[in-house]
Amino acid sequence: MEPVRYSAVARALHWLIAGLIVAAFVLGLTVDDFPKPYVSAVVNVHSLLGLAIIVLTLVRLGWRLTHQPPALPAETSALIRRASHLVHQLLYLLMLLVPMIGIPTLLYRGRGIDFGVFQMPPMFARTPEIFHPLTDVHGYAAYALVALALGHVAAGLYHQFILKDDLLSRMAADRR
Ligand code: HEM
Ligand code: HEM
Repeated sequence: MEPVRYSAVARALHWLIAGLIVAAFVLGLTVDDFPKPYVSAVVNVHSLLGLAIIVLTLVRLGWRLTHQPPALPAETSALIRRASHLVHQLLYLLMLLVPMIGIPTLLYRGRGIDFGVFQMPPMFARTPEIFHPLTDVHGYAAYALVALALGHVAAGLYHQFILKDDLLSRMAADRR
């Protein structure tokens, strides 16, 4: 029989990555509001969160492609099936694209990354003609990711509270 919920690994990765995206987004938006001496550290934490998102999303995609997701309820229309697949695919795409664009955005600011146990030194000179447009693209792509995620959340809440089909339990923690 097909499972009716996502596996524990898929659920853990879903919520971990969602939390990291929210944290990275908030830090990205507020980095310029921190007192100057803290900006480098905040950019570094932001970048580490983003790199973790890339790694965890690749692990998640690997898991997704090798494990069967729970089937949607039989009454789900073909249009809704297609729409939900499309949104999920776009979410995965942006979950990789946004942080990947972040990497050159960081490097062309003449910054390296401090991983704690080792440091990656700066690779390029600080080049505003390159990092300004890259920051814009990185920022707009991040807005697109968060907007899509909000639409995704709205769809989840619609299922839960209007359709009352308990869709959220497919991705929720165990209830005791
Ligand atoms: C999903 C992950 C990420 C999200 C949601 C995100 C989001 C953002 C946002 C909203 C901004 C502000 C853009 C603006 O001011 O127009 C920003 C700035 C920035 N991000 Fe990210 N980002 C992510 C991952 C990364 C990664 C992996 C790196 C580098 C390795 C990175 C490096 C930067 C840098 C250098 C800035 C500019 C900071 C400054 O103004 O000094 N980001 N990010
Ligand atoms: C940054 C935030 C989020 C991102 C990037 C995200 C991403 C995703 C992705 C890519 C999937 C598809 C899973 C797959 O089939 O491989 C998914 C499924 C799901 N998500 Fe999220 N999600 C986020 C936040 C949330 C929140 C806050 C909720 C709660 C309302 C939620 C509820 C669900 C549910 C119920 C499913 C399963 C849908 C189904 O069974 O077809 N997600 N999410």
